[in-house]
Amino acid sequence: MDPVIRTSGLSKHYGHIVGLESLDLQVPPGIVFGCLGPNGAGKTTAIRLLVGLLRPTHGRAEVLGIDLAADPDEVQRRVGYLPGDFKAYPDLTGGQYLRYLGNLRGGVDWQAVELLAKRLDLDLTRRIGALSHGNRQKVGIIQAFMNEPELLILDEPTAGLDPLMQREFLALVREARDAGRTLLLSSHILTEVEAVADMVGILREGHLATVDSVENLKARALRRIDLIFAHEVPEAMLAGVPGVQEVHADGTIAQLTVEGSTADLIAALAPYRVDDVVSHEADLEEIFLAYYAEEG
Ligand SMILES: Nc1ncnc2c1ncn2[C@@H]1O[C@H](COP(=O)(O)OP(=O)(O)OP(=O)(O)O)[C@@H](O)[C@H]1O
Ligand SMILES: [Mg+2]
Repeated sequence: MDPVIRTSGLSKHYGHIVGLESLDLQVPPGIVFGCLGPNGAGKTTAIRLLVGLLRPTHGRAEVLGIDLAADPDEVQRRVGYLPGDFKAYPDLTGGQYLRYLGNLRGGVDWQAVELLAKRLDLDLTRRIGALSHGNRQKVGIIQAFMNEPELLILDEPTAGLDPLMQREFLALVREARDAGRTLLLSSHILTEVEAVADMVGILREGHLATVDSVENLKARALRRIDLIFAHEVPEAMLAGVPGVQEVHADGTIAQLTVEGSTADLIAALAPYRVDDVVSHEADLEEIFLAYYAEEG
């Protein structure tokens, strides 16, 4: 199937500042693509290029098969977009604003809007200007989802949402994906991306450091394991196991780091009596830091 997003050499320079450098990315349909990176990495720049709000300095992008340079309006019509700094008319109520947008776009089922508001616990009768940051963000989320676009591009969608609402939002993301839609979302919150994304791209200083599935990233990741032996730790043996990187032995307790699969380690332990094992599952945070360390 054709990718929903395809960029080649996509670059944006702000004067001499590099916002994004030579992004080559293909996002297949029907997945959640998580875009991770620290502040200033280029996430918002990439997203604004993909919705045609910025023009690239070099390179090109195609979204839903449409060349952005040729028809940015068509891309904007067909993509659900939540900007990182979502703002709306403060004097309208959430309901008035969403109705206004719905009429403008057409094809919006008002019951679906009310259901979204109910799920996100948003009062549509309150003035947007009087809403808290998190509640205003919900208006932005609803406007992105309400006409069920085939592609959603969301810049830090969970910013300002409390944990309960973050969970509800992630459920909406999964439901949209399961209905065959494609979502690209940016975040610094690694656990949330890990919970919802099928593929992850890590941006750093305008460069795409890696793109991989969450599973593969985890498989390449370092894991910390504690082993409690019945007798003294066979330190030299442990250090020789493929994938084992660091071994700290203290009496009968060994703490070690394993890269990727632990199968070799487990096989090597067979002749020994191990009383307990504690495995600290690698999260994206560790993967993230490992990537940054690698890159220097
Ligand atoms: N309008 C602008 N003028 C000049 N430089 C800009 C502009 N917008 C972004 N930049 C620079 O481009 C780089 C990437 O910024 P961008 O906003 O894309 O990062 P981000 O990954 O979205 O960060 P954050 O996590 O803080 O939202 C940064 O160095 C930033 O200072
Ligand atoms: Mg940003």
